[in-house]
Amino acid sequence: RLGKPLVVAIDGPSGSGKSSISREAARRLRAAYLDTGAMYRAVTLYCMEAGIDLEDAAAVEAAARAADIELSTSPDAEFVRVSGRDVTDAIREPIVSSSVSAVATTLGARAELVRRQQQLIKDSGLRIVAEGRDITTVVAPLAEVRILLTASEEARLRRRGVQLGGTQSAAQLKEQVITRDAKDSTVVNFQQAADGVVTIDSSDLDFEETVQAVLDVVYASTH
Ligand code: DC
Repeated sequence: RLGKPLVVAIDGPSGSGKSSISREAARRLRAAYLDTGAMYRAVTLYCMEAGIDLEDAAAVEAAARAADIELSTSPDAEFVRVSGRDVTDAIREPIVSSSVSAVATTLGARAELVRRQQQLIKDSGLRIVAEGRDITTVVAPLAEVRILLTASEEARLRRRGVQLGGTQSAAQLKEQVITRDAKDSTVVNFQQAADGVVTIDSSDLDFEETVQAVLDVVYASTH
């Protein structure tokens, strides 16, 4: 990879635009891209297919350790495989979205996924944009650049609705954005910026303006 080591950690709630913004920032920085939410989703799908009770913490932790998950860290080639099978689309299904908090709130599973994520960051040669809920605080607290990407509830509901093709009812959207964030917030704090983390509020920014705001923080932190 070109360039110097540069770890950019980005956290934020659902619908903040984290994934698309982080992917584009990675392209422009010629860095790798890590979508950690995809790993929680992959473990969730693995459990559901293996008939593992998502309320059984020991079983979910064991599944997180056992699952064979392969995740692309190229911003230009998105894929996730579980046991060698492509699940890139399957992990975005509503049934996975509505179950994933059970994995995200299992501390033993988190510990295993954090370990795997730290390994993927090392494997990138430390040139990567990594996004999720606990990247600035737990996965990469020593990252050169740490950003909390937020947006108003209204903006987040609107964006997630557009992302899902406008097929969801207002109640379904609220369940997927607000209820899920409330569950996940019981184990990770991504609502407030930790010390040293720069907050970008994208409520009134379009896609390009938000990418630029992220790149501005990167340049300011590294020059
Ligand atoms: O960003 P996403 O919707 O794909 O995330 C899927 C779930 O995983 C979501 O419920 C939050 C959780 N998650 C987490 O707890 N920690 C992360 N670093 C990334 C995602």
